[in-house]
Amino acid sequence: MLTTAPRGTKDILPDEVYIWQYIEKVVREVASIYGYKEIRTPTFEHTELFQRGVGDTTDIVQKEMYTFEDKGGRSITLRPEGTASVVRAFIQNKLTDNPQPTKLYYIISAFRYERPQAGRMREFHQFGVEVFGAEDPSLDAEIIDMAVSILSKIGLKGLKLKINSIGCNRCRPDYNSALKDYLEQRLDKLCDNCKKRYEKNPLRVLDCKNPSCRAQFAYVPVILDYLCDDCKSHFSRLQSKLDVLGIEYQVDPSIVRGLDYYTKTAFEIVSEDIGAQGAVCGGGRYDGLVKECGGPDMPGVGFAMGLERIVLAVKAQNVPVPRNDCVDVFAVSIGDETEDVVYSIVKKLRDNGISCDKDYLGRSTRAQLKYADKVHAKYALIVGGDELNRNTALLRDMATGEQQEVPFSELVEVLSNALKKEERG
Ligand code: HAM
Repeated sequence: MLTTAPRGTKDILPDEVYIWQYIEKVVREVASIYGYKEIRTPTFEHTELFQRGVGDTTDIVQKEMYTFEDKGGRSITLRPEGTASVVRAFIQNKLTDNPQPTKLYYIISAFRYERPQAGRMREFHQFGVEVFGAEDPSLDAEIIDMAVSILSKIGLKGLKLKINSIGCNRCRPDYNSALKDYLEQRLDKLCDNCKKRYEKNPLRVLDCKNPSCRAQFAYVPVILDYLCDDCKSHFSRLQSKLDVLGIEYQVDPSIVRGLDYYTKTAFEIVSEDIGAQGAVCGGGRYDGLVKECGGPDMPGVGFAMGLERIVLAVKAQNVPVPRNDCVDVFAVSIGDETEDVVYSIVKKLRDNGISCDKDYLGRSTRAQLKYADKVHAKYALIVGGDELNRNTALLRDMATGEQQEVPFSELVEVLSNALKKEERG
């Protein structure tokens, strides 16, 4: 073989793709029910968008971006997430001038140079939503409700929602100085990167995955104790809205998120069934990001869920997923003289919206029927010399083995009715 797929990427084969299609169908349906419109942005952006948007002291920007110079000498980065791109598109296309709020969703691939493991890929996929133009915590609750609804509609169970508030630019400085005081006592035990972050952006120290750094965080001050009145009230109103919606949650002050743009609400939804990378969804509010990216001072809130991790959870929990990749009819021709008639019947059924396939390898009748069974065809349509003389086909229900003889002219009607009945049943 010439080469293999790069480390951290994955081919999604037909045997798994039906799970992805099912998840994508659910997310699109729920997004539309909640009034969200789809947006598609480019796979790559100017590097500075993520440096400014995601933050240049984050792991993502410091270690994980796929950045290269294009042939025109520009620094380009494959998107490591969707929010910064959607914010850029929101500003650039003047969606800021529309009546607000603007509610958008996307399904994208994203790229991070991380150490691959179960649920952590270098190319991965996200479903995400972003809402611009409203500060009201009922919107934070709405997107959380939407994420919870999606995961429950997919059929996942036992997920935990964790929420926190990480303050705003009024109260964050107080917290940062308390955090710095705490870290200062332990600076000699922190890694070099933490020492740099301690200076530039102490909150990011808490993202460090190094066990010896983590061991220092046991009694770290929590931001909830430093919130200003506005953030405190926003957080308590968020909780009462979640209560109204009947959504269970846990306040977890350790949720600080790995991206710099968050203000106030931060949340994650976690599964215990998929190993160490258990966060299936993460998001929060980012009231300063639109302005930071050169737009007006407009608030925003959103989340993204990792589709690989949802697929893992679906498999781990044996969630039943409807397969839509089986043919309705497999057409079997017996003898060369029936070949063209069967070929044209296949075309006619397809033209009438009935999924249909046939043999292309010159298999024997028995082998064709065996193959029809293997591809889970609902019906085998069999034409031999006798049927050809009578302008009929034998229709065999592959599940029950029952057969009926149907004139060519009635095949579409008989099959359509039978398939509709099956769908209802
Ligand atoms: P994030 O927490 O970095 O947030 O990613 C969101 C989700 O994407 C994670 O919870 C996880 O399920 C999935 N994910 C992240 N990295 C990987 C990876 N390497 N392999 C597989 N799955 C992964 C964001 O990306 C924010 N843009 C979310 C957001 C939108 N906040 C506001 N709006």
